[in-house]
Amino acid sequence: MNLNSCGNNGNSKKNGPKPDFESRLPGKHCLVTGAAGFVGSHLAKRLLELGCRVTGIDCFTDYYDRSIKDNNTAPLLKEPGFALLRRDLVEIEDGWVKDVDLVFHQSAQAGVRASWGEEFSHYTRHNVLATQRLLEWARQSKPERFVYASSSSVYGDTGKLPMQEEDLPRPMSPYGVTKLAAEHLCNLYHQNFAVPAVSLRYFTVYGPGQRPDMAFHRFIKAAIEGREVLIYGTGEQTRDFTFVEDIVEANLLAAAAPNASGRVYNIGGGSRISVNGVLALLEKLAGKQVQVKYEPVQAGDPPHTFADTSRAKKELGFFPSTSLEEGLKLMYESFTR
Ligand code: UGA
Repeated sequence: MNLNSCGNNGNSKKNGPKPDFESRLPGKHCLVTGAAGFVGSHLAKRLLELGCRVTGIDCFTDYYDRSIKDNNTAPLLKEPGFALLRRDLVEIEDGWVKDVDLVFHQSAQAGVRASWGEEFSHYTRHNVLATQRLLEWARQSKPERFVYASSSSVYGDTGKLPMQEEDLPRPMSPYGVTKLAAEHLCNLYHQNFAVPAVSLRYFTVYGPGQRPDMAFHRFIKAAIEGREVLIYGTGEQTRDFTFVEDIVEANLLAAAAPNASGRVYNIGGGSRISVNGVLALLEKLAGKQVQVKYEPVQAGDPPHTFADTSRAKKELGFFPSTSLEEGLKLMYESFTR
């Protein structure tokens, strides 16, 4: 098993500056794009718990089963502070939502391996064009902060680990190209029109509610149902997996940090493990062996990712607090409840 820990990460919040979002965020009106999705729905829930008012926008694309998105939004819709617009962000107009204090732009056409061929038009529409339209809207609406959900996919194969924000991004997938293009748009709108945009490069997010096309979701489901799992390549590729609540925390910190506008931050889980290593942990949790079928390496998949999160630690006070073992257990339990 390949489970490394990065010296500049840590699983303790004790030593860092105390996050001040708990005093700064209550009462704010937050716009969460992609509120019906995996990260967006977790984030909207937390913002409501903090005492924010939340407007969610989601166009309920059919990339995966829409009923999953209905399930994600059902508890949110019971909250008086939550409103949902079922609309396509590309068409956003002034009147849709007013007096927004904070924008959390989580919506995207996700999926690294699916972004080739005909499908690419969905990626340009939902990742690039939608972001540009939202930035134009933000230029007029002047929110206090605009947090953009970027991705470790912007790096590609850097040839060195851990990945640092200054590394030359060379995406390996069309998906990564669109996430990087949108990040550049955020920087342009910050430089030219003072849109207070900050980009968070998420490293493979997992946890309860993870999208069904992603590795952990597929592996856990297959283990429970006694089916074989498909592993692309040798399984020795590694990822810095990040628990969804740590991603939510990073968003809150980025919204509240006084000097974060115009910055880019890696947000990782603090350790790196191979896909085979994940499977070994899962077998322990399931108490049984899982059958594996090895398939060819998929175009667009980087061999390794590993985040240097020292910038986020120093400037945002970000510390990932859920270890992979804990997080995988929580996710596994969410399937068996
Ligand atoms: C994930 C998300 O899907 C992207 O949206 C996100 O932007 C990206 O993380 C990121 O961090 O930038 P990925 O790392 O490919 O992409 O996440 P998984 O789908 O969980 O795959 C992790 C690894 O498991 C990959 O090497 C993949 O090839 C492998 N895998 C996945 C399998 O071997 N079998 C599967 O059935 C699924």
